Amino acid sequence: VHASFVDAMGESAAEGRGRPGDASNAGAELRRWSTRWPDGAGFARYLAELHGESRADTPRPPGRVPYTTWWWTDGSTYLGRIEVRHRLTPALRQHGGHIGYDVRPSARRRGHATAMLRAVLPHAAALGIERALLTCDVANEASRRTIEANGGRLEDERSGSLRYWITLEAPRSSTA
Ligand SMILES: CC(C)(COP(=O)(O)OP(=O)(O)OC[C@H]1O[C@@H](n2cnc3c(N)ncnc32)[C@H](O)[C@@H]1OP(=O)(O)O)[C@@H](O)C(=O)NCCC(=O)NCCS
Repeated sequence: VHASFVDAMGESAAEGRGRPGDASNAGAELRRWSTRWPDGAGFARYLAELHGESRADTPRPPGRVPYTTWWWTDGSTYLGRIEVRHRLTPALRQHGGHIGYDVRPSARRRGHATAMLRAVLPHAAALGIERALLTCDVANEASRRTIEANGGRLEDERSGSLRYWITLEAPRSSTA
């Protein structure tokens, strides 16, 4: 999905992601990688870093936790991504939570975010998460609906963020 991923990141940039002042993870990635993604070696390097982020023993700055990213694709077409942070920090408990996602602009409103979140919940449970925290801006109706369609229960609103919990089913034991 290399070519399609590069196109999708271009769509995100056209939407304003990655501009100065965009503090999102997706924005930071765009600023750091957009000139290197089109090149095969640069893309491979990015993927290696992404894999590293999922490992507990990868060095990371204080306050950063391991996270695993899954890409949602259709054949060789990249549609979106979803990431699960393996545990919460005090900051993530306020804003950010366990799970973040985005769908490329040209593939929105087709149910991908709802399906992607549903698909990732067993993986989050397998990481040992019993209740997943998801947060979204009060004004982000699409994200709010995505979370509610997946059983999110609203706890409260903090500084413009809605905080939802999804109770996860315990992973099936491999010996059962
Ligand atoms: C939020 C986002 C992931 C939703 O992706 P999506 O694939 O379009 O979502 P879905 O098609 O699964 O739609 C989910 C629900 O939101 C509704 N929805 C989608 N876009 C909407 C919009 N722009 N305005 C209002 N409702 C919208 C859908 O109708 C659907 O509601 P329903 O289940 O009641 O019918 C996507 O808009 C996105 O990537 N936004 C930028 C990044 C972001 O905000 N990530 C979430 C951070 S918490």
